[in-house]
Amino acid sequence: MKPIDSPWPVPRTTTIDLRAWLKRATQRLAASSDSAGLDAQVLLAAVLEQPRAWIAAHAEASLTQPQLEQLETLLEKRAQGEPLPYLLGHWEFYGRDFVVAPQVLIPRPETELLVEQALDWLRRFPTRRLAADVGTGSAAIAISLAVGIPGLRVTAVDLSFPALQVAQTNTRRHACTGQVDLVQGNLLTALAGPFDLVCANLPYIPGPLLSQLEVARFEPRLALDGGPDGLVWVRLLLEDAPRWLAPQGLMLLEIEASQGETALAAGKQFFPTADVTVIADYSQRPRLLKIQS
Ligand SMILES: C[S@@+](CC[C@H](N)C(=O)[O-])C[C@H]1O[C@@H](n2cnc3c(N)ncnc32)[C@H](O)[C@@H]1O
Repeated sequence: MKPIDSPWPVPRTTTIDLRAWLKRATQRLAASSDSAGLDAQVLLAAVLEQPRAWIAAHAEASLTQPQLEQLETLLEKRAQGEPLPYLLGHWEFYGRDFVVAPQVLIPRPETELLVEQALDWLRRFPTRRLAADVGTGSAAIAISLAVGIPGLRVTAVDLSFPALQVAQTNTRRHACTGQVDLVQGNLLTALAGPFDLVCANLPYIPGPLLSQLEVARFEPRLALDGGPDGLVWVRLLLEDAPRWLAPQGLMLLEIEASQGETALAAGKQFFPTADVTVIADYSQRPRLLKIQS
């Protein structure tokens, strides 16, 4: 019997099932990724728009030709080192999903320490509700704080206009455009303070090291390059910040694990009367400069 013609174009199926593609993709990624099998599953789940558990339960299902073509393109980019979050177009930070694009740094789990400390302080001081997030990028910090503290007002500043466009997508996505004001500017100079809380995850990788790092191949240099010793932006911010930080305000700056002593000394230099400390992460590495004025 002749099959009835479908009124819609039906995607051609291939002879490749999910299990076979996963096996081949895992082998293709083995040389370039420490998590080849997981990466392959995540890409497959994204293209099929299904949870990873669904894939395991449908390993014999065949890919359609358009799905296969899309997967092959993504696989090749991943094999060339392109970060998974850029390929997917989104990534999780502090339990929420953020749009990411090559114009912004991919939000890192290390930065969640800053968010935890900031939320803890804001909950203890319910009258302190003006915050600034300097070098906001995707606005992951600003939005995590705004969503966590409904009365908070955050000014989120970045030098990069393309980064702010991604930030705007995220403020809309998380319904906090009324709480987060996006501003293009250099550090705090374009802002009207004072702020109760100043947070910043500024670029802190020493510039000369960048060319040796995989991260610099895909993420924006403006988000990574911290000058000769990595602390140029942090020092400039510390120098300016006393004018913008309200009395008894809090400043939290993410630093690289090797910068603890230098950052502490800089903090004490520019805030001689404040309580200046360095906070370690769960692996006991110094990751946060904390200044309680
Ligand atoms: C390390 S990324 C952090 C992004 C985001 N806050 C996060 O934690 O994922 C640093 C950000 O600072 C921005 N930036 C660099 N220099 C700046 C400056 N002088 N003033 C404002 N923003 C700056 C970069 O464009 C980038 O978005």
